[in-house]
Amino acid sequence: MAAAGTDSLWLAGAPPTAYPALEDDCEFDVAVIGGGIAGVSAALLLKRDGARVALLERGVICGGATGFTTAKVSALQETKLSEIDDLHGADGAAAYAAASLAAVARIDELVREEGLDCGWERVAAYTYAGDEEQVDAVVHEAHLALAAGLDVQLTTAVPLPFAVAQAVCLPGQGQLDPVRYVRGLAAAVDGDGSRVFESTAVATVEEGSPCRVRTHGGPTVTARDVIVATNYPLLDRGLFFARMEAARSYLVAARVRGPATDGMLITAGRPSRSLRAHRDGADTWLLVGGEGHLTGSDEAQPARFAALERFVREHFDVIDIPYRWSTQDGMPTDKLPYIGPYTLASSHLFVAAGFQKWGMTSATLAAGVLADRIAGRDNPYAAVFDPNRATVRSAPAVAKAQLWVARHFVGDRLSPAQAGSAADVPAGEARVVRSGLGKIGVYRDEDGIAHGVSLRCTHLGCLLHFNAAERSWDCPCHGSRFDVDGSVLAGPASAALERREAH
Ligand SMILES: Cc1cc2nc3c(=O)[nH]c(=O)nc-3n(C[C@H](O)[C@H](O)[C@H](O)COP(=O)(O)OP(=O)(O)OC[C@H]3O[C@@H](n4cnc5c(N)ncnc54)[C@H](O)[C@@H]3O)c2cc1C
Ligand code: FES
Repeated sequence: MAAAGTDSLWLAGAPPTAYPALEDDCEFDVAVIGGGIAGVSAALLLKRDGARVALLERGVICGGATGFTTAKVSALQETKLSEIDDLHGADGAAAYAAASLAAVARIDELVREEGLDCGWERVAAYTYAGDEEQVDAVVHEAHLALAAGLDVQLTTAVPLPFAVAQAVCLPGQGQLDPVRYVRGLAAAVDGDGSRVFESTAVATVEEGSPCRVRTHGGPTVTARDVIVATNYPLLDRGLFFARMEAARSYLVAARVRGPATDGMLITAGRPSRSLRAHRDGADTWLLVGGEGHLTGSDEAQPARFAALERFVREHFDVIDIPYRWSTQDGMPTDKLPYIGPYTLASSHLFVAAGFQKWGMTSATLAAGVLADRIAGRDNPYAAVFDPNRATVRSAPAVAKAQLWVARHFVGDRLSPAQAGSAADVPAGEARVVRSGLGKIGVYRDEDGIAHGVSLRCTHLGCLLHFNAAERSWDCPCHGSRFDVDGSVLAGPASAALERREAH
């Protein structure tokens, strides 16, 4: 049984993909694990460099976070430069801004060079003050953006049906349909010695000369270089789980009368509201996102969607709201993505992760950094985003993230069961149920059938929490997610939960 919630607007309208599963042991120059924007973009750049690439995807191409994104392509990203400036100073902020701007240009090139029909259009990006208290944050971001080389302006003229006290605008950014974009890139990867495989879950990678990529109960891919682009890094070496949190946000897509908006907008603080339009034939869509929290939090309730829907109906002329969905991304403790060697000792195993809900640009720049590295070319951003940079280990946020994990690892084991038996679980709901000396998770579906699973996350053993907004079991430690029958929806876990009898 799948998790609740509809497909995203992007996936609902997309034709199915039809790449085969990997069936035999094989050998390539590079294996790329993960068929989201990071993996597919990297695979294409490597193929263009002459490498024979295997792209290995557990589900379908663009069925992960990228299929559920808002897909704004912008170097102005909420108040990201303020966050980076705090930890890395003006040079760090300037490097991030320049790399993001270069990624916008790279996407523009890829769309044209591959002839992609993906709704790519240039629009202005805005960060606006959602209330008076956010005005200072907007002005500060504007100053940092100017200093970092972005051609921004302060303004109160925003393409919204309500007044705002302050906004910063960066013209010439872009938006697209992420599924049509990434699946278009994947089609360009497949062929001429390179292959795309779906329904192919990687279990582990042995780094060596060559590397061996072992799939779950299946064949092995041998490759000189391997890129792990699984959103949350699949392999525990490198200790990414100690320096990256997983955070979810929610989206609704409303069909509206009138023009919606001709910009891409986001508030400078909470409650976060992120808006963009999408035109499809006669329909004008407004996408509104926000209401984020860490994965596995008990905030994962239907109220998150309800708050977004209230906002849309309050400000726009809504016809209907047929799509609502949610997804998650990795949040590095020192606010910069992880792009480069997997560990200090790695020379053939690489990672691309930690895109902080801005992966359209960051994953694209990751593809360039990794392709350059594998081809032996210099890249001006390689050192900035090196996963093994000094700041990732010293940032105070590491301690905060570890405290959150420790609290859940121990506290959740001590907390009492919510029901004495599966019979006490109402239809359409889930409970942590006592079972012998331990606890199991039980969800009862609308037909009255109870679905029982072990609550022990197959990654590192934290106990799962029920996500009532999307009907899944989510891990508060590093963001793994499982459906009510235990299948993996999101990593780093790669093995399913054990099923349990639900009496
Ligand atoms: C609500 C929300 C809105 C966002 N909006 C924006 C936006 O407007 N602009 C922007 O720039 N960014 C945005 N982002 C961020 C952006 O969507 C992500 O950063 C980006 O999609 C991440 O791409 P990815 O390739 O790393 O991950 P994914 O798209 O998740 O791809 C990883 C793939 O790896 C596969 N995989 C995992 N484990 C295995 C395994 N063991 N074997 C094989 N395959 C595996 C998965 O199935 C998945 O398909 C948003 C994020 C969220 C949460
Ligand atoms: S995701 Fe790491 S323990 Fe669950």
